[in-house]
Amino acid sequence: MDRNLLRVIYGDMRDAAALRRAIDSSKPDEVYNLAAQSDVGISFMCPEEAAEINYYGLGRLVHAVLDSGLQPKIYQASTSEMFGSSKPPQNEKTPFKPVSPYGIAKLRAYEDFVVGYRKKYSKLFICSGFLFNHESPRRGEHFVTRKITISLAKIKLGLQESFSLGNLDALRDWGYAPDYVQAMWMMLQQKTPKDYVIGTGKQHSVRHFVEAAASALNMQVEWKGKGLKEVGMVGDKVVLTINKKFYRPVEVNSLCGDPSKARREISWKPSLTFPELVELMAKSDLVQLQREQKMFS
Ligand code: GDD
Repeated sequence: MDRNLLRVIYGDMRDAAALRRAIDSSKPDEVYNLAAQSDVGISFMCPEEAAEINYYGLGRLVHAVLDSGLQPKIYQASTSEMFGSSKPPQNEKTPFKPVSPYGIAKLRAYEDFVVGYRKKYSKLFICSGFLFNHESPRRGEHFVTRKITISLAKIKLGLQESFSLGNLDALRDWGYAPDYVQAMWMMLQQKTPKDYVIGTGKQHSVRHFVEAAASALNMQVEWKGKGLKEVGMVGDKVVLTINKKFYRPVEVNSLCGDPSKARREISWKPSLTFPELVELMAKSDLVQLQREQKMFS
């Protein structure tokens, strides 16, 4: 990559002056606000941080843009967590019922600085994607998909014996992250700012993700027991246990996006199926670990 194409400017969503400097010095055509406290579980432990970054942070950014006199188009990363306990499939007309500090802060940011400011400042182009879970081999290891693929790959290679999860029955709509980045860009190429649900339209349980990732690595998981005593076995070995510390105080049980509007209006569609995504992630972790094993052997 040409290093001159990328310039890193130090800043912080808690620092209005830093954001203003970043806007003034980069003079952007497009601004993508992906900065967030993005771990839903952590938001229960640090709710003030969720509000400070996910809510006030967007306010500071939008004001930095307004004060600069420039008119970049702004993309705000909204989330399926805003739908919370609303029944699936969720689309742009589904009522928002968030249950976590993360989801609540994201919803307030959307209502005040996307919907509200769009009405208040007629020249402001700001839009938002309600993105369902988007994954790839680059996903952070504390999110459930990558935690599963890296743990199973380590177990396969004999580097780890077992790992623990929380709620196996939560249902999520998992898609491939690069497709979602494409969708964000497509939204900003529109003449008028509009908001879209981006998801695959299919949901799977955490349990099913474990089974699919194991199968991509030629292992078969069998479940024994119930509740906190449930275990996942490969052959006669326990590879997965349940730990209540990974349960959320309040869970979003069932998310599944209905991306019809995005398909119709911006021709967006996902490029990978669920089994293809899981296989890509599981095999990527396996290959990376094998490479490290060779390097250090
Ligand atoms: N992280 C985690 N770790 N989640 C677990 C575990 C575990 O050990 N065990 C079960 N789960 C369940 C969670 O309770 C949740 O129901 C589901 O797995 C998915 O959890 P995450 O991977 O942490 O993602 P998320 O759905 O909470 O949120 C992600 O997707 C949102 C929608 O795009 C994050 O990326 C958010 O920032 C994003 O807005």
